Amino acid sequence: MQAQGPLRVGVRRARADDKDAVLAFASTTWDGWDYIPEAWDEWLAATDGTLLVAETMTPDRDAEGGVVERGRVVALARVTMLAPAEAWLEGIRVDAALRGRDIGTNLQVAELAWAAAQGATVVRYTTGRDNEGSHRLGARHDFVRLADRRAYGPNQPSESPSGRPIRRPFGCSSPTRQRRSATGGPDWRTTRSSAPATASTNAAAWPSRS
Ligand SMILES: CC(C)(COP(=O)(O)OP(=O)(O)OC[C@H]1O[C@@H](n2cnc3c(N)ncnc32)[C@H](O)[C@@H]1OP(=O)(O)O)[C@@H](O)C(=O)NCCC(=O)NCCS
Repeated sequence: MQAQGPLRVGVRRARADDKDAVLAFASTTWDGWDYIPEAWDEWLAATDGTLLVAETMTPDRDAEGGVVERGRVVALARVTMLAPAEAWLEGIRVDAALRGRDIGTNLQVAELAWAAAQGATVVRYTTGRDNEGSHRLGARHDFVRLADRRAYGPNQPSESPSGRPIRRPFGCSSPTRQRRSATGGPDWRTTRSSAPATASTNAAAWPSRS
């Protein structure tokens, strides 16, 4: 596998017809599981934020040497306003064969621009304590790690399609979705198994990258 440089992408709002392309790389992120397939329709219709995708601007090759055609959707992310001056980032996913090529960085630049345009002065997200890629991505935009916290979720065993237990990365789950589905859920518990970090940045002060 060859080291590859930045991949040129454009970022735009997601459309309904992006669904298949997005789910092709964002359905099995965590041990064969991801919540993006459940969240897609809701996020596309949501009016409290924006759902963004990145698509390639030029043909390229992925990490296995496979052809990546121009115009392929290769990443998504959602940003929402939790309060008039407070934005929340969630659901960022980059095609696994194209990570480390600045796609997440460019997507996050667009998210932060959107947040700043809404008047956000604070932007936050949570992530897994051990999710180095997510920590480093945040560091590129001056996110500061604030705290560890415990997650609270359904106390039920879950398995991936392969039959292996899923170590759900609570820190990377969507708090805005959990908040909506928390009522009436059976048997909730706290867990220490993957205590996530909370990060925050000042939207007015981050440096931009192209
Ligand atoms: C986290 C993620 C969005 C980063 O996107 P990306 O396009 O790979 O990131 P970039 O190429 O823009 O690189 C940003 C930084 O992350 C680092 N990085 C990216 N992938 C990494 C990995 N697997 N391990 C360690 N660092 C990684 C890059 O080296 C860079 O750090 P640097 O500034 O120290 O050089 C992507 O790896 C991904 O989709 N991961 C799975 C989903 C996920 O973890 N989402 C976040 C959940 S909260």
